[in-house]
Amino acid sequence: MRIIIQKNKEKVAQWVANYVIQKINQANPKPNNPFVLGLPTGSTPLGTYREIIALHQAGKVSFKNIITFNMDEYVGLPENHSESYHYFMQHNLFDHLDIPSENINILNGNAPVLEHECESYEEKIEAVGGIDLFLGGIGPDGHIAFNEPGSSLNSRTRIKTLTYDTLVANSRFFDNDINKVPKTALTVGVGTILEAREVLIMATGYNKSRALQKVVEEPVNHMWTVSALQTHPRGIIVCDNEATMELKVGTVRYFKDIEKQEIL
Ligand code: GLP
Repeated sequence: MRIIIQKNKEKVAQWVANYVIQKINQANPKPNNPFVLGLPTGSTPLGTYREIIALHQAGKVSFKNIITFNMDEYVGLPENHSESYHYFMQHNLFDHLDIPSENINILNGNAPVLEHECESYEEKIEAVGGIDLFLGGIGPDGHIAFNEPGSSLNSRTRIKTLTYDTLVANSRFFDNDINKVPKTALTVGVGTILEAREVLIMATGYNKSRALQKVVEEPVNHMWTVSALQTHPRGIIVCDNEATMELKVGTVRYFKDIEKQEIL
């Protein structure tokens, strides 16, 4: 697993956006050979999305031959609700790119039979040949997508009940009222994410430092589901200095050294 440590969240956003664009351009996607990108929501990827939009507007990348799959969506929120992940993605990314709308895949949290929605999402991923690069964030409790502590590390797309921790963390988007936060969500599984050819997780800010410590310095553990990244052949974490606050000094120096970054 690579750990890339950047000075601050702005540098993380630039690093990740440049990496994504480089991967897309290297793959040289065509209509019959698209690049398949997995995408997260949350506040962490916002800077990266702004950088990707800027690079697109500067003519450095096209999304015409990109297919996207989002990680998760709340159950029961209308798609046009300002906190739905459909709304988030449209406004913060897709509206500003040249991606065809039929290439965008987001779980439908209002599907009549949610289990069928989850099964067909997995089938769609398989039908396009799997995900080339899955981007993700990390919950303060170490969850990835909505794979809450205790999720099977082989899990597939399914319905999950959100933990109290997550309801509290996400209540900031719902007038700080946890009663307004949907209690369930559809989410890709840890197994779904691990099947991507490459997985890149972003972690910024001090409130992610405990989760980062578990993922980087401790063994794989279903209570910190993002730790499953340790088993992926091409896993990358891009974090800022603040998120490393709970890591050992030696760990930080080690990863900075092997990534040839300045040791301060
Ligand atoms: C939600 C999402 C996760 C995301 C997490 C962290 O729980 N389902 O995919 O990683 O929030 O969000 P933030 O980046 O706002 O801290």
